[in-house]
Amino acid sequence: MSYILVLYYSQHGATKKLAERIAMGIESENLEARVRTVSTEHPSVHHSVVSEQDLEQCIGLALGSPTRFGQMAWRLQKFMQNTSAQWLKGVLEDKPAIVFTSSSSMHGGQESTLLSMALPLLHHGMLLSGIPYSAPELHQTTTGGSPYGASHVVQNEYADKLSDDEKKLAFESGKRLARLARKLKE
Ligand SMILES: Cc1cc2nc3c(=O)[nH]c(=O)nc-3n(C[C@H](O)[C@H](O)[C@H](O)COP(=O)(O)O)c2cc1C
Repeated sequence: MSYILVLYYSQHGATKKLAERIAMGIESENLEARVRTVSTEHPSVHHSVVSEQDLEQCIGLALGSPTRFGQMAWRLQKFMQNTSAQWLKGVLEDKPAIVFTSSSSMHGGQESTLLSMALPLLHHGMLLSGIPYSAPELHQTTTGGSPYGASHVVQNEYADKLSDDEKKLAFESGKRLARLARKLKE
């Protein structure tokens, strides 16, 4: 059965919330969203750790990390830097991908983090998709959401409280990824 891999790292649960919202968008297109993490050491994270097979057999990928000094967290970086075998086999080539992030401040480096996650995916031959401005929430958001990918600004102690615009943009980016994956598979 075809599925899209939603792969994330999250310490406090905010990035996980985005992952779940993206998964809802994917499933609204009747495609399985396989949500996996690279680390289960934090109590707020309850998804399984990704396997080699999860990565190799997906038809599309959503990759997410909290913003850490303007780039992806080291645990996700470490995971990506252990994918040489998959790179050699070219298992991700010509498959669509999106990236997503959360940060604690509005201008704290979300876009550079999103781009930092896009780079290894380009090396893998993936086809990166952003969020087009035909999404009205992109024009109006006062929280997260960027043409480079879905995002969340943690505005209080409730890390899991995505704004309505963040929810919609994350959902729509998952939906778009699913549509692209299906078209490319055909
Ligand atoms: C080492 C470290 C570096 C961070 N760097 C940034 C940063 O550059 N910009 C920012 O806005 N937030 C930064 N943060 C805050 C995290 O992005 C925020 O806690 C995270 O988005 C929460 O995501 P999570 O709930 O998925 O762990 C940093 C946090 C840590 C621990």
